[in-house]
Amino acid sequence: MKHFLSTVDWTKEELQDILDYSKYLKTNRFQDSLKNKSVGLVFFNPSMRTKTSFELGVQELGGCVVVLNPGKDAWPIEFKLNTVMDKENEEHIIEVAQVLSEYCDLIAVRSFPKFKDINDDISDYVINSFAKYSKVPVINMETITHPCQELAHILTLQEELGSLEGKNYLLTWTYHPKPLNTAVANSSLLIASKFGMNIKMLCPNNEYLLHDSFIGSAKNNCSQNNKDFEITHDIEYGYKGADIVYAKSWGSINYFNKVDQEKEIRDQYKHFIVDEKKMSYTNNALFSHCLPLRRNIKATDAVMDSENCVAIKEAANRIHVQKSIMTNLIK
Ligand code: CP
Repeated sequence: MKHFLSTVDWTKEELQDILDYSKYLKTNRFQDSLKNKSVGLVFFNPSMRTKTSFELGVQELGGCVVVLNPGKDAWPIEFKLNTVMDKENEEHIIEVAQVLSEYCDLIAVRSFPKFKDINDDISDYVINSFAKYSKVPVINMETITHPCQELAHILTLQEELGSLEGKNYLLTWTYHPKPLNTAVANSSLLIASKFGMNIKMLCPNNEYLLHDSFIGSAKNNCSQNNKDFEITHDIEYGYKGADIVYAKSWGSINYFNKVDQEKEIRDQYKHFIVDEKKMSYTNNALFSHCLPLRRNIKATDAVMDSENCVAIKEAANRIHVQKSIMTNLIK
């Protein structure tokens, strides 16, 4: 049984098959691949795009959907093994995943990192525990990576640019008042490198490097594809010659549990906002962001409202790629 937990587990060819069927679904929207099937969506964190696109996507494939928010409308879940459950958690993932598997044909999970212990976060134990005890395929709706966003991103870029082989791709850190999840940034490196692009990663300083596991995978992919991978802190150099600019804010993984100290550092880098001047250094690049986005903090109105901004197209593509993923896993 195959899960969709990370694109690392899928070959480029397998992912391209999912993307190609997504393109078909865009013009053949209503199918019956989930007829008489049910999908459980488990959200430990808020969502607008993911919740809406999954719920509607399941319905457009003829299936039923149930949404659960553990700790709110469902019991809080324990994940530690061999533990005495004398605190607030009412049931164990061992039972939760097995019971949900009896009701549902697919389970999708959103569980952001806790920002307390990087090793816990990197282990991605919540979704991996669902996958371990589930009897049905599990889909990642964003944990320490965001693979559904990755496919929507690549589908959008392929629609705009055709082949992505050899394109110059910039992942830029942007300012945000809070330390955000690294997931989309990690995912951006994984998927851009897998699809044969030259990558520059721009961030304020070495405190904002992403975890070695993601940088290592991206470097490895680039090396296998004979493409470049560079990390820079020089804004003009980062943007220069880019065909694609993907923006994301993330918190420093070196400052877990030191939120106030990290904020002092982060607040020095508000000028990393994506603006017209920075975009003018590029090769008339497309701009995108996973959304939600704070205007005039992460990117200016002018950039968001420009013809080069494909963020809405990328968000729209979420429903098509997710329908394709579900169809692939259920067959
Ligand atoms: N991009 C994304 O996953 O959006 P939501 O957090 O609104 O689901």
